[in-house]
Amino acid sequence: MITPKLPHIYYGGDYNPEQWPENVWSEDMRLMKQAGVNLVTIGVFSWAKLQSAPDRFHFEWLDRVMDLLADNGICADLATATASPPPWLTRLYPEILPIKDDGTRLWHGARQQFNPSSRAYRDASATLVRQMATRYKDHPALALWHINNEYACSLAADYSDETAEAFRDWLKARYPTLEALNEAWTTAFWSQTYYDWSEIIPPRQAPMPMPYFLNSGLVLDYKRFMSDAFLACHVNEERILREITPAIPITTNLMGTFGPLDYVKWAKHVDFTSHDCYPDPSIDPYGLPLTHDFTRSLKPGVPFVLMEQVTTHVQWRPRNVTKSPGTMRLWSYQAIARGADGIMFFQWRQSRGGVEKYHGAMVGHSGDDSSRCYRESAGLGGELTKLDGIVGSRVESQTAILFDYDNWWAFELPSKPSNELKYMEEISAFYWPLFHANLAIDFAFLESDLSRYKLLIAPTLYMVKAGVAEKLEEFVQAGGTLVVTFLSGIVDENDRVHLGGYPGPLRRLLGLCVEEWAPMTEDQTNRIHSDWLQADYKVGHWAEVIHTEGAEVLARFARDYYAGSPAVTLNRVGDGRAYYIGTKAEPRFYADLLGVIAAESNLKPPISAPIGVEVAKRCGDEASYLFILNHLEHTVDVTDERLSGMDLLTGKELSGRISLDAKGVAVVQTRCDSPSSLPG
Ligand code: GLA
Repeated sequence: MITPKLPHIYYGGDYNPEQWPENVWSEDMRLMKQAGVNLVTIGVFSWAKLQSAPDRFHFEWLDRVMDLLADNGICADLATATASPPPWLTRLYPEILPIKDDGTRLWHGARQQFNPSSRAYRDASATLVRQMATRYKDHPALALWHINNEYACSLAADYSDETAEAFRDWLKARYPTLEALNEAWTTAFWSQTYYDWSEIIPPRQAPMPMPYFLNSGLVLDYKRFMSDAFLACHVNEERILREITPAIPITTNLMGTFGPLDYVKWAKHVDFTSHDCYPDPSIDPYGLPLTHDFTRSLKPGVPFVLMEQVTTHVQWRPRNVTKSPGTMRLWSYQAIARGADGIMFFQWRQSRGGVEKYHGAMVGHSGDDSSRCYRESAGLGGELTKLDGIVGSRVESQTAILFDYDNWWAFELPSKPSNELKYMEEISAFYWPLFHANLAIDFAFLESDLSRYKLLIAPTLYMVKAGVAEKLEEFVQAGGTLVVTFLSGIVDENDRVHLGGYPGPLRRLLGLCVEEWAPMTEDQTNRIHSDWLQADYKVGHWAEVIHTEGAEVLARFARDYYAGSPAVTLNRVGDGRAYYIGTKAEPRFYADLLGVIAAESNLKPPISAPIGVEVAKRCGDEASYLFILNHLEHTVDVTDERLSGMDLLTGKELSGRISLDAKGVAVVQTRCDSPSSLPG
């Protein structure tokens, strides 16, 4: 449980009473209670309302809001309000304003216009946060802290002189000497050797234009540094909150796998993870389950919160397709099924003005309970009160996808044999077949305990840092199944090639050597044939010329100068298996491959269900909960003898069968499984 103050599924949204006259606030309370709201995120963008000068604070209005919430039994997820510095602050300290890579300064008038390395920004944030924490530390409504908002969402990098200084300090802490940095960045190449730290500048275009590809060590370290700079802003606030309110849990709203920030590091600085999730109904028929699994995996064993989603439609896409009736409910249950203990929205009441006035909300412009968005919100809020038993229960998975931000950043650095490969595409190629097979999926990170997994998939593990190959070898030796894909084992943590033959430190484990790469044009394809899978598959974009060194060949290329050479291999090591895939194949291949591997590893879904029906399971101390979600537009029957127990949403006892309407959901409480008796 995230906090004993609220032993229910959290339900509510971003509440921005500062946009409304006070006579609306009491109506808000009435509508919130009617909709089952028990938590609201307040103050996210209220800095300008809370402070009008360095020494002038205006907390009275927030006092009244907090009191009103407490009087109505609604908890506050109090935001630190530092996401958007007010104009008076950037007038006094223009150095807070960020600088783009072309040297342009960005002004206020939108939001999130701060350079994370700015001392003035960090000091002003600290002052505000200390004031807030001191004022509300004993307030009965205060349940959670929400630091800032979607760090780096609007602007993920800064190129100012102050940032350049901070970058040099960061480098001095990372490298013991300038010589060590020169070595790590291979600056001997193109006469880039630095003789003084002051010669190092951020990878910007102005005032010193860099005319060609930038040094990859510089770019990679700059990405690491920028992520750390945003994290330092978070820690700057976290430190104060922990000092003044040590018992109040802290979070910040993440954004799925968001590329610019290393959320694996971030997770150590929150008590629970939360994220914002905006699937596009026109292209995401199954929502965005990957982002829920990722957010949960960042903090193993701790529930997460879906901090923002929309009831109907957003306003920031070229066309903003609305969620059809039932979709918001279905996707909310998807988050809970995958480990969420909270379902929240942006925002409570639809704004009257400002650029988000056409963004959906729980209460629409009608202002009352007559809209579909309110009816659906209130319907879900009412239902969630039946799910108190689920709070704190866990998702248990025996399959994981290995994920590493440094690897992502290095994999997508320019100047490669193919500059069109995308890390998330390679992750997704495995994620979706696992999802459709209803196998629980964790994300694992380099520091994770791998012993709990039977299957570990490492897509394009391009960067292999010290100790990682040994860890993977240990996993396989102990009986694990590892799947590694093309372009793995290529560079060290400084993007320097592991010499001695690809895939470098993974060569022994995989039992093969990659002699060369053979990227294809957009129009070219090849085929692979597998006796093992008894099928042929189309492949494209990438192929490798592989020589086995102990591995068995499971599929071979059909055409081109490397026809007949291995495309898919298996190396048996200790009690386990290490598969390698040296190409990019059509989706059917991944589904077939994972089907066979799942059978070998005895990985099974909780129950069998037709395609289009998502099944996931949460395990509590006293019961397990089976979520059955029908993503289809028609009624389906799900039949399985393990489907027995009570559907908490209808109160009906099930024995082996359920019929679900289009977009229908069931949450079946079943007997408790001990982890050892879990399916698979
Ligand atoms: C983000 C922000 C919110 C709001 C929504 C709109 O998630 O955190 O303040 O702008 O986007 O979708």
